[in-house]
Amino acid sequence: MTTLLINIKELLQVRESSINKVSGAEMGILPTIKNAYLFIKDNLIAGFGSMENLPEIQSDKIIDATGKVILPTWCDSHTHIVYAGNREQEFVDRINGLTYEEIANRGGGIINSAKKLNETTEEEIYNQSKTRLEEVIKLGTGAVEIKSGYGLTLEGELKMLRVIKKLAKNYPVTIKATFLGAHAFPLEYKDNHQGYIDLLIDEVLPQIVQNKLADYIDAFCETGYFTVAETEQIMEAGISFGLKPKIHVNQFNSIGGIQAGIKHHALSVDHLEVMKKEDIESLKNTDTMPVALPSCSYFLSIPYTPAREMIAAGLPLALATDYNPGSTPSGNMNFVVATACIKMKMTPEEAINAATINGAYAMGVSETHGSITVGKKANLIVTKPISSYYQLPYAFGSNLIDTVFIEGNIIT
Ligand code: NIG
Ligand code: FE
Repeated sequence: MTTLLINIKELLQVRESSINKVSGAEMGILPTIKNAYLFIKDNLIAGFGSMENLPEIQSDKIIDATGKVILPTWCDSHTHIVYAGNREQEFVDRINGLTYEEIANRGGGIINSAKKLNETTEEEIYNQSKTRLEEVIKLGTGAVEIKSGYGLTLEGELKMLRVIKKLAKNYPVTIKATFLGAHAFPLEYKDNHQGYIDLLIDEVLPQIVQNKLADYIDAFCETGYFTVAETEQIMEAGISFGLKPKIHVNQFNSIGGIQAGIKHHALSVDHLEVMKKEDIESLKNTDTMPVALPSCSYFLSIPYTPAREMIAAGLPLALATDYNPGSTPSGNMNFVVATACIKMKMTPEEAINAATINGAYAMGVSETHGSITVGKKANLIVTKPISSYYQLPYAFGSNLIDTVFIEGNIIT
């Protein structure tokens, strides 16, 4: 099956040869072709260029994209979209004055979601999660990382990871699974942290690996959650089983999680709302991708990741949603891109790079996703007719997506 898209107003993120990420000043450069064509063959990008150079191509289908912008689908490298129920009541409690931490300290938060998850059948969790996945695909997400971490028991964690595996099997988007058993300490382990860590390492992890249920390992390194030493134990165990770390750090406090992640060659360090100068310094010249989650900052009214300082220091930066029931009940990458521009002062070029190629890197899929490159998956966002790609962050509340292609097929 072949498809030819012609008269594309502007084709964004075109990279003749494959790159895996962009850093520092390069983030401000978004290569594009105006008045372009794009040729899809067997689910892959098979060619593209200026309409002036359109070769004679036989195609099963021709689509006229006059007035429309085309870009690679978003790569959302950090989500928790498999969960049960919601936490609307906590949302209202926060409106009425409680903080996220206060809610967590009285047994709400992650523990509340874990209780719901363990009381819900696997089938029901799958059904709730697939609705969220379908929604984000329509919003232009073509690759998504999904974490466990609302089980906090052997059975609960396995159940979540099986649901992620089933989503990956049943949907054409690329899904990476991350084991986040170290998300919070269950109440019964409040005073026995090592007991819970031993359970994760000695009982849960071997079963996950045996059943090939995870690609990465995560821990919530934060005051009141996992210390740096505890996070290191978890990362080391994951690495010994072949799982690279991708960790939650610096959401509320800077306690050394970034340095621990770098030491263990974490693929990414995520959140980064609270950054010290030395945290930015530590990330220089490493292979660890910093990931910002601006929808979380928005929803919790906490600081935004200091993107300008980080980019000025020559760092790369990725953007992801953090879609989860507590801190970010939204998986809309378009809103993330807009919020990064509006609140973090990223330029549209930087934000689009951060949400495509750098997002792909942060979930280990940059060989196949994140840019318009021959041989990469034909995962595309086709916009409605727009004046320029600046509209994407500018018209932050509008859905400007006309069509989404996943592996060359239109999602309906
Ligand atoms: O990334 N910070 C840790 N985990 C999630 C929130 C979890 C929750 O509140 O359910 C996050 O924000
Ligand atoms: Fe998260």
